[in-house]
Amino acid sequence: MITKCLFPVAGYGTRFLPATKSQPKEMLPIVNKPLVQYGVEEALQAGLSDIGFVTGRGKRAIADHFDINYELEHQIQGTGKEVYLESIRKAIDECTFTYTRQSEMKGLGHAILTGKTMIGDQPFGVILADDLCCDDEDGVMGQMVKLYNQFRCSIVAIEEVPMEETSKYGIVEGENIKEGLYRVTNMVEKPKPEEAPSNLAVIGRYILTPDIFEILERTPPGANGEIQITDALLEQAKNGCVMAYKFRGKRFDCGSIDGYIDATNFCYENYYK
Ligand code: UTP
Repeated sequence: MITKCLFPVAGYGTRFLPATKSQPKEMLPIVNKPLVQYGVEEALQAGLSDIGFVTGRGKRAIADHFDINYELEHQIQGTGKEVYLESIRKAIDECTFTYTRQSEMKGLGHAILTGKTMIGDQPFGVILADDLCCDDEDGVMGQMVKLYNQFRCSIVAIEEVPMEETSKYGIVEGENIKEGLYRVTNMVEKPKPEEAPSNLAVIGRYILTPDIFEILERTPPGANGEIQITDALLEQAKNGCVMAYKFRGKRFDCGSIDGYIDATNFCYENYYK
């Protein structure tokens, strides 16, 4: 059974400067809830209640968010405002939170490797909270856990993107097993459109088997001088099996201004109005 979920949140969020100068990108609100809380709720919905954050400098607000603020609770007690804290209270009560720091930003692969001590020898989920996923049934991680229970191998969530956007993503090539499911045969990090093997882009949801750590330990820096999870997954795919899953639901790239605005409008229309 998968119980652990890793949240790499060490990135600088440069596309959101100056908003992210002294606060984490993951704490930006979509309507009235920070991005990272949506991610934790999705993990919890999938049964993953051991949450591990790979943090960096300036990310303390995340740890404070997932902790009780006694002074605030005392202040609003009996005022009817307690209801606003219900969702975060549920996350705090039902999850455990662990933190480790990535001291140098050496890429997503390196961030995941930094989480090794929190994960140990078990399969685990990875959520990049800046990709907000909305699905009213199981949640995207919930869909992936079901698949993991069937295939017992690493799984990446994918989405078709316009060909001119391939250079923003890890792109997979695979053998189509059934509707929406591919066995990965090739993976390239941020290829130019003319070099991309397909338009199937990996988004910020993964289930990884723990042998990924040993592979990451010997994966040299790749694109942008960073240790790429794509390179480690390609090795897993060549020696064993990695599945790519076209998830059900909507995904918003909240690391970009346009995606963030779209997510805000969508959540406001669908969940708050
Ligand atoms: P991004 O490159 O999209 O995020 O990394 P960023 O660096 O925060 O944003 P920009 O590009 O400067 O605006 C994808 C995810 O991987 C994490 C980030 O926090 C983000 O959730 N990450 C990336 C790390 O935790 N460590 C790294 O070294 C790199």
